[in-house]
Amino acid sequence: MNYSQAMERLRSCGQEHVLAGWNRLGAKARRGLLAQVEQIDPASVRRCQAALKAGGATADSSKGVAPKVAVLSGAFRRKAVEAGERELRAGRVAALLVAGGQGSRLGYDGPKGCYSIGPVTGAPLFYFHARKILARSRRYGAPIPFYVMTSEANNAATVRCFVENAYFGLNPKDVFFFTQGMWPGMTKDGKIILDEPGHVFMSPDGHGGLLAALKKSGALDDMKRRGISSVFFFQVDNPLVEVADPAFVGYHVMQKSSYSLKLCAKRDPKEKVGMPMRFGKTFRMVEYTEMTDEQCNRRKKDGSLYFLYGSPAIHVFDRAFLAREAAKAMPLHLAFKKIPVFDGTKVVKPSEPNGYKFEKFIFDILPNATRAAFLAFDPADEFSPLKNAEGSDSPATCQADLRAKWLRALAEAGVSVPPGVPLEIDPAYALDAADIRARGLQLRL
Ligand code: UTP
Repeated sequence: MNYSQAMERLRSCGQEHVLAGWNRLGAKARRGLLAQVEQIDPASVRRCQAALKAGGATADSSKGVAPKVAVLSGAFRRKAVEAGERELRAGRVAALLVAGGQGSRLGYDGPKGCYSIGPVTGAPLFYFHARKILARSRRYGAPIPFYVMTSEANNAATVRCFVENAYFGLNPKDVFFFTQGMWPGMTKDGKIILDEPGHVFMSPDGHGGLLAALKKSGALDDMKRRGISSVFFFQVDNPLVEVADPAFVGYHVMQKSSYSLKLCAKRDPKEKVGMPMRFGKTFRMVEYTEMTDEQCNRRKKDGSLYFLYGSPAIHVFDRAFLAREAAKAMPLHLAFKKIPVFDGTKVVKPSEPNGYKFEKFIFDILPNATRAAFLAFDPADEFSPLKNAEGSDSPATCQADLRAKWLRALAEAGVSVPPGVPLEIDPAYALDAADIRARGLQLRL
């Protein structure tokens, strides 16, 4: 792209000011700016401007009804597990990880997936995800292709982490990295923000950017070519997640669902977690900010919360549903943030939010699901997110929850561990109590 092509593109969406400082830029900065403009799609800019005008209005959730949430037990659970195992054995299951976030709350300088969480080995989060995939693909004798979404900011470091760790034992042919899109930040008047001379402020387009990125990268075609039908979606920050859990995959398949969600009971009525609700025949994720106090506190006759179940973003998608949705535009959400601005002479770092980032959320495709299914699970076993450096949802809580889970599995397999003994289990060595038993594990101290 040359200067006049860039100008034409920017003019078509009222953003000529982006090239205002052109004459003062050196050759390298000019090339960088042209490359950025090439990424800016005028139609998307106009959508961002329209979203700003609409003010990010949220939908009315007052008529929402709690969905039916299944709890698996006994024979029904066994049936679901068998159905999931059939899928896994047939090689019809893929794992899809969103790892493009900036991890700003954790304050770690690198991809969150590279954060060291193994209590003994210091292994990174990616290790635990990859080793679970390896364990299940060995157990069922079929590959589980692993699709990893990164962002421009963390792609190189993510790939390096896999290469340096020999893909954690996975076959590199079964690991597919793809990068999500970036959106320019804007002022409230819909003008693209420059954060440095000749540099547009861009940020990742949210985990919903997944669909466009899956399509653009060829990952969707790759899934189709491999005969994938169920796609297990999860977030990078949860070391407890049961990747490609047969019970969940099986329940999804038995329900002929397009979009299935694992849900867990809220710890308190005001917990900051999205809730799927039913509106007539469709479902929609209602964010905690959209819920009224009455909805948060509504109780059933037995005293339990009416809107009990929140979503920790553990899903199974039908692959064909993802492909259909990837062809559509997704709603945009606005985030009002502090964004550095180059005002033509200097860079100003604001003390208050001054500009908008735009994000897409994967759960916005829920209303389009012809069938959706909801499955309850125990967070003690499967959910402990790494969000903060300290306090709740921190490395300390993740490690304590990992240890508690391992201790439960060991106890179930008849192995008792004295208090204070450092403990870590490689998921590819033993995924659960049954594996521990099969290994005949004895504790030597
Ligand atoms: P979070 O919303 O927790 O964001 O992401 P984050 O970037 O990890 O952390 P903060 O909010 O900056 O502290 C939930 C999941 O969605 C992914 C993250 O990598 C994480 O797995 N995500 C988020 C993306 O892949 N892309 C995005 O643009 C945003």
